[in-house]
Amino acid sequence: MNIILIGPPGAGKGTQARILEEERGMVQLSTGDMLREARTSGTEMGKKVADIMDSGGLVTDEIVVGLIEEKLQSAEGDGFIFDGFPRTLAQAAALDDLLRANKQELGAVVEMKVDDDALVARITARSTCANCGEVYNDITRPIPDDGKCSVCGASDFKRRADDNEESLRTRLMEYYKKTAPLIGYYYHAGLLNPVNGLGEIDEVKAEIAASLGA
Ligand code: AP5
Repeated sequence: MNIILIGPPGAGKGTQARILEEERGMVQLSTGDMLREARTSGTEMGKKVADIMDSGGLVTDEIVVGLIEEKLQSAEGDGFIFDGFPRTLAQAAALDDLLRANKQELGAVVEMKVDDDALVARITARSTCANCGEVYNDITRPIPDDGKCSVCGASDFKRRADDNEESLRTRLMEYYKKTAPLIGYYYHAGLLNPVNGLGEIDEVKAEIAASLGA
């Protein structure tokens, strides 16, 4: 089954996508991760998007649709998890076309609902493993006491340049203006499953499983 995880910055999309990958063999397609990878490897595209990402704005539809198209052709697994994509109505229409062209379809869209105060607290406390990308949180999911990532054992951790209050304000505004209309789009398509993203990570995981019918 192919699914979309939709929700504001810090809603827990990446955290839950990694759990779904591990437990169900699905493949996470995160446009945010793909763009950050392009920046790290110093590609022309990576340089072009750096300032936009740091300020919290949205990268052009053309760039992110191109990234997803490429991955859909090369990635294999037991269903895709679209994490942070689509973010505009134009991206949603492009995804419909791409899936159709690949003889695939969307099974569900999980909307993760979290209020703004909790988002600020989560984002400003986030860090990730520099090696495997595992997501941690100073308060709710601290790095293990031995200072090593619980997944890969690496001891380097990083914080994102856009994880500050100012960028977050822009990211939230972009979400409510450009991405929130997708909630109605997918409700109308009969695919929308709202879940309460405010619970503990395991509680949210259980709600998502229930909403997917497994
Ligand atoms: P992207 O990387 O997609 O960022 P985002 O959507 O802002 O989402 P985040 O990754 O910040 O949050 P998340 O929901 O994954 O939360 P997480 O699981 O980490 O995009 C970054 C930028 O790239 C964009 O601003 C834009 O510029 C560009 N971009 C990307 N895609 C694009 C597109 N399609 N079109 C145009 N531009 C695009 O959790 C957050 C924290 O909370 C962690 O510390 C975690 O441990 C903690 N946490 C998670 N769940 C819980 C819980 N249940 N309880 C307590 N803490 C929790």
